Amino acid sequence: MFNYLLILHLLGAAIWTGGHLILALVVLPKVLSSRNLDALLQFEQQFEKIGMPALGIQIITGLWMAYRILPDMSAWFTFDNDISILIGMKLILLLMTAMVAIHARFWVIPKLSADNLNGFAVNILLVTLFAVSFVVVGTLFRTGL
Ligand code: HEM
Repeated sequence: MFNYLLILHLLGAAIWTGGHLILALVVLPKVLSSRNLDALLQFEQQFEKIGMPALGIQIITGLWMAYRILPDMSAWFTFDNDISILIGMKLILLLMTAMVAIHARFWVIPKLSADNLNGFAVNILLVTLFAVSFVVVGTLFRTGL
C-alpha cells in the first residue's frame, strides 16, 4: 500500500515541480523579454488543469504517508526528531505555497499587465523554489537529516 502512495506522490511531484521548472526556466524568461503576457496566461491556464489535481494528490498521499510513518499526529509538530522535522518542513512549505498562490490569485493576477510583470515573476520563482524544496525535503526521509 505504501508503495502505491509513494508512486502517486512521485508522479504528482514530477508534474508539480516539473511544470513549475518549465514555467520558471522556459516560459517566464521569454515573457519577461518580450513583455507579451499571452504565452504566460496560456501556460498557466493549461497547467492549472493538471497542476492543481497533482498538488491535491501530493497533499493527500503526503499526509497519508506521514500518518503511516508517524501515526501520532501531535508528534508531527514537536520538531524533536528527523521525521517530525521533515513532516513539519513539508507542512510549512505547503502553507507558504498556499499563501503565495492566494496572494497571486487575488492581488497580483487581477491587476496583471505588461508593466507590472515583475511582481508576478517573483511569485512564480517563489512557488518554484518551494516546489524544488518539497522534493529535496522528500528525499531526506530516506537518507535522514
Ligand atoms: C508539491 C508538493 C510535494 C512534492 C513535490 C513532494 C515530493 C516528494 C518527494 C520527491 C519525495 C521522495 C520520495 C522518495 O523517497 O522516494 C517525498 C517524500 C515524502 N513526502 Fe512529499 N512532496 C510534496 C508534498 C508533501 C506533503 C504536503 C506531505 C505531507 C506531510 C508530504 C510528505 C512526504 C512523506 C511522508 C515522504 C516520505 C515517503 C518515504 O518514506 O519515502 N509531501 N515527497
